[in-house]
Amino acid sequence: MIRQEKIDKAIETLFDEIQFTSEPKGLYDPLRYMIAIGGKRLRPRLCLITYSLYRDKIKSEILEPAAGLEVFHSFTLIHDDIMDRSPLRRGVDTVWKKWNPDTAILSGDVMCIDSYARIAKAPKKSAAKVLALFSRTAAQVCEGQQYDMEFESRDDVTMDEYMNMIGLKTGVLIACAAKMGALIAGAPELDCDSLYGYGYNLGLAFQVADDYLDAYGDEKVFGKPIGGDIVNSKKSWLTIRALEKADEAQSATLLQAMEMPAGSAEEKAAKIAKVKGLYDELSVAEDAKQTILALNEKALETASRVCSGVRYERLRRFADKLVGRTK
Ligand code: IPE
Ligand code: IPE
Ligand code: MG
Ligand code: MG
Ligand code: MG
Repeated sequence: MIRQEKIDKAIETLFDEIQFTSEPKGLYDPLRYMIAIGGKRLRPRLCLITYSLYRDKIKSEILEPAAGLEVFHSFTLIHDDIMDRSPLRRGVDTVWKKWNPDTAILSGDVMCIDSYARIAKAPKKSAAKVLALFSRTAAQVCEGQQYDMEFESRDDVTMDEYMNMIGLKTGVLIACAAKMGALIAGAPELDCDSLYGYGYNLGLAFQVADDYLDAYGDEKVFGKPIGGDIVNSKKSWLTIRALEKADEAQSATLLQAMEMPAGSAEEKAAKIAKVKGLYDELSVAEDAKQTILALNEKALETASRVCSGVRYERLRRFADKLVGRTK
C-alpha cells in the first residue's frame, strides 16, 4: 500500500508540472485561475486513495487521470456558477463575474476537453473501461444539473427525486473517482463496483452537507455566499425535508417565501431570514446531520466489502473528513 504522505504530496503538487496551453490568454487564464485558487481536490485524492489500496508506488499512469478529474470538476463549477448566478467560489470571484459569462462558457468548454485528454492517458490495459466510465459520468452530471434547474420551479419534488438528482450531479463523479483509481490499479471488477458504491454514497452525503452549509455555514470558511440556494429558490435537501415535515399552513408559508423576490441586498436578506426561520421551526438542520451520518455509514458498509485493516481505515478516514467538513 502507498503511504499516506505520498498521496498528500502528490495531491499538493498535482498541477505543478502541468502546462496549460498559454494562448489565447483570454481562454486559458480562467482555467489557470481555477486551478491556482485550488479547492479541496477531493476527487483526485479519492482516485489516488483507491489506487493506493492495490499498489505500492504512485506511477505517472494515475496522475494524469487524477488531474483530469479535478479539471473536469472545476469545469462543472465554472458553468454551474453561471447557472446559479453565483458571485463567489473558493472565496474569490467566480469566472463569469471576474471575466464575463461568454468567457466562462468557452473556458469551461476547453477545460472539459482538457480533462478528456488527461483521462485518455490512462494505461492501455484499462483505458477503454476508464473512458466509458468517465463519458457516462460526464453525461450524468449534465442530467443532474438539468433536474436541479427544473426543480427550481416545481413545488412537488419528492425526496426520492431529490436524491436521484444529487446522485447525478454530484454522486456519480465521486463514485467515478473511486472506481477509476481501482480500475487503473487493475483491481478485481467486484472491488471496482463496491468502491463505486462507496463513492456514490459519500457523494450523496457530500451534497447534503453542501446544502446544509449553504444555509448554515460560515461564508469565510465555505468560500461561497451563504443563502445562495434560498436566493435562487433551489430545492435543497433542507427545502424538501421541510416540505415533508410541514403542516399545510407551514407548507404554504414556505412555498410563498421561496417565491419572494431577491433582487436587492435587503430583499435577499429578508428572503433568507424567512426561509431559514421555517427551517429552524421544523428543525431540518438536525435531520440533515442525521442523514449525512447515515449515508456515511452506508458508504463505509460498502467499503468494508472491499477491504479491512489499514486499507479500510484509509477509506474510513477519508469519509469521516467529508462528514465533518465545514468547507
Ligand atoms: C462543490 O464541490 C460542488 C459540489 C458538488 C457540492 P467541492 O466542494 O468539492 O468544491 P471545491 O473543489 O472544494 O471548491
Ligand atoms: C453543484 O451543485 C454540482 C455541480 C457543480 C455539478 P451546487 O450548485 O450545489 O454546487 P455549489 O454549491 O455551487 O458548489
Ligand atoms: Mg448548482
Ligand atoms: Mg452552484
Ligand atoms: Mg451548493
